[in-house]
This record gives sequence, C-alpha cells and structure tokens, in this order.
Amino acid sequence: MIVLGIETSCDETAAAVVTSDGRILSNEVLSQIRQHTPFGGVVPEVAARAHLEQTDRIVKQAIQQSGLKLSQIDAIAATTGPGLIGGVLVGVMTAKAIALSQDKPFIAVNHLAGHALTVRLRNSEYGDPVAFPYLLLLVSGGHCQLLIVEGADRFIRLGTTLDDALGEAFDKTAKMLGLGFPGGPKVEQCAKTGNPDRFPLPRPLKGRKGADFSFSGLKTKVRQTIEALPPGPLKPQDVADLTASFQQAAGDVLVDRTANALDLFSRRHPDGGPLVVAGGVAANTVLRARLSALAHERNIDFAAPPVHLCTDNAAMIAWAGLERLQNGPVNDMDIKPRPRWPLDANAEHQPGKKEKAR
Ligand code: KG4
Ligand code: ZN
Repeated sequence: MIVLGIETSCDETAAAVVTSDGRILSNEVLSQIRQHTPFGGVVPEVAARAHLEQTDRIVKQAIQQSGLKLSQIDAIAATTGPGLIGGVLVGVMTAKAIALSQDKPFIAVNHLAGHALTVRLRNSEYGDPVAFPYLLLLVSGGHCQLLIVEGADRFIRLGTTLDDALGEAFDKTAKMLGLGFPGGPKVEQCAKTGNPDRFPLPRPLKGRKGADFSFSGLKTKVRQTIEALPPGPLKPQDVADLTASFQQAAGDVLVDRTANALDLFSRRHPDGGPLVVAGGVAANTVLRARLSALAHERNIDFAAPPVHLCTDNAAMIAWAGLERLQNGPVNDMDIKPRPRWPLDANAEHQPGKKEKAR
C-alpha cells in the first residue's frame, strides 16, 4: 500500500509518499522560518497564509519525486490536529479534495501519533521496526509527555507538562540570548563549547513522584541569570556556558521523569519494551545520548527516529495513515479539523492542571 501524507499543523508545509514496507519515496519539507524570524516565533496567521500559498506546490512536488502517478496512491492522509487551526484546515481541505477527486480514502491523522509511530517506519536504512508496547517520551515545541504506546491508536498518558513544553523552553532561552529562531538547534550548537556546571539552574519536579514535567521555573531562572550578568552585550563564553547549563538541567529532568515512567511502564508490562524518544527535541544529540544511557542502565533497548524525521515532516503522517490502513478500511471524510486532540482521551481532563492547547 502507498499513502500520500500532508503536514501543515505548525510552521512546516510538508508532503510525502510512503509505502507500507517503510520506503519513503518522497519527503518534501518547506520551512517557514524566514517568514516567522522577524517575530521571534510562529505567528498563526502568517503560518496559515504561507500554507495556503505553498501546499499545492509541495504536494505536486512530492508526487513527482515519488515517481508515481496520483492514481497509484491508495489513500491520502493529513494532519487533522492538534495544531494551529488555519494551517490544519489548509492541509485537511487539500487532502480531502484529492481523495474525493481520485475516489480514494481520506485518513485523519493525529500529529502526535505521527511523531509517536515514526520509530516503526523502519527499513534497511534505519533498522528494525520497533514493536508495541514501548514507553515514549514525546518532546516537541508544543508537547512534553510520557506515554505507553500499545497500538497505532492505543496510548496511555503517564505524565505531561504542567506549563511549558521543552521545545518552547529551548526556543525562549534562545530568544533571550539573542540566538534566533527556532532555538533548539542553536542552543545545542552553542552548548558544545560551554561549561554545563557554571550556572546553577533548577531541575523542576526532579526527585518527585510521577511523570509530569514543568519548565517555566527553569526558563525564569535563565532570564534572571542573564539579568545578573554585567550590562552590555553578552560574551560568547557566557552564552555558551548558559546554554550548556540549560541543556544539562533539561537532560537531568528528562532522565528523572522518564526513569519514573519506566517503573510505571514495567508494572503494566512486566515483559517490558524499549524506550523511545520522538518529536523535534529528540533531534538533540546530547539529550538522545542521556536517554540512551538511561535505557542501557535499565537493560532495555533504546530507539529514536533518524534526526531528519524528528522535526515535523509528512513521512510520519503518511506512515501513521498506513498503520491505520493496515488495521482495516478507513474513511474519515466526515472528520473535521481538531485544534486539540489528545492521544489518550482519558487523560484529557486533569483537575487543577493547566494544559497546553496543543
Ligand atoms: O516536532 P516539532 O518539529 O514541532 C512541533 O510539533 O512542535 O518540534 C519543534 C521543536 C522546536 O521547539 C525546536 O526548537 C525543537 O523542536 N528542536 C530542538 C532541536 N531541534 C528542534 N530542541 C533541542 N535541540 C534540537 N537540536
Ligand atoms: Zn511536531
């Protein structure tokens, strides 16, 4: 089976063609970084407009690159939520129109399921597919969650962030240090030459029970640390040391919370399963190494998507569509875009907790 995937939920316009045996025939990703840079972050209205202008072209390009005709594609999948509604609408309407004109099914894909299932999109290039169940740390610009993944649409959320997502904390740290947008890769780059022990930063919730996260205190301390430095432009060494200290604090928190989640996971699945990290922040090689070391300590396997499939792309959306298609016929033509769409519906409402919109 072959699926065309479309991703437009944030600031990447993407389209890809993927086969059920895990071959990525094309994977077009157009970033809107240039349009959002003057604002230091993603502006929903600017994003929607850019998706509207580019989606048709990117879809055409993905089909051309795949070497196939549209009629050879079995289904069209698009991110139907969660995400910025203007962009999601563009992707869903485009996908539905193609599906209708070709008389093929439309598959509504949850963006988070795309990230969650990418490690199962494996072939000779990426290694063996990861089998269910696994413990997933999903870390992106909008989310920071620990989930048990038991099937393509069976997720149990063990913890989530009470305030900011980790990618957001990376982006805000970069912004405060004048490193630009998106911040994650810039912080990682600067941290390479920094001393991670120079600035004492908090490790929110570390040592506490459970698998929730909190990053707003860490972000605030970064701001206060910058304010306490001598006035004037920041010295490159200060920037390097602060980014390294931030990244180390983030890594300590991720390892601590993931270790607790592994305990909860093994209670439900005594035979165990691997630890998987996915989402944009999973592109960070230092954090990947810390999580891989945790898995090694626990004597379990570790998996992460190849770096270029960690940040938003449409291959993961096509793949999540294929996983659904393999479980039986799908027709989601009646499903409307959903700006909020938790993977674990039972975890949607947690009294007293402030939830991120995405
Ligand atoms: O998954 P993604 O592309 O979009 C969302 O679904 O949110 O994640 C984007 C986030 C951004 O916050 C970006 O700064 C972060 O992932 N990111 C990184 C790295 N590359 C991207 N964070 C830390 N280190 C990186 N190398
Ligand atoms: Zn994403």
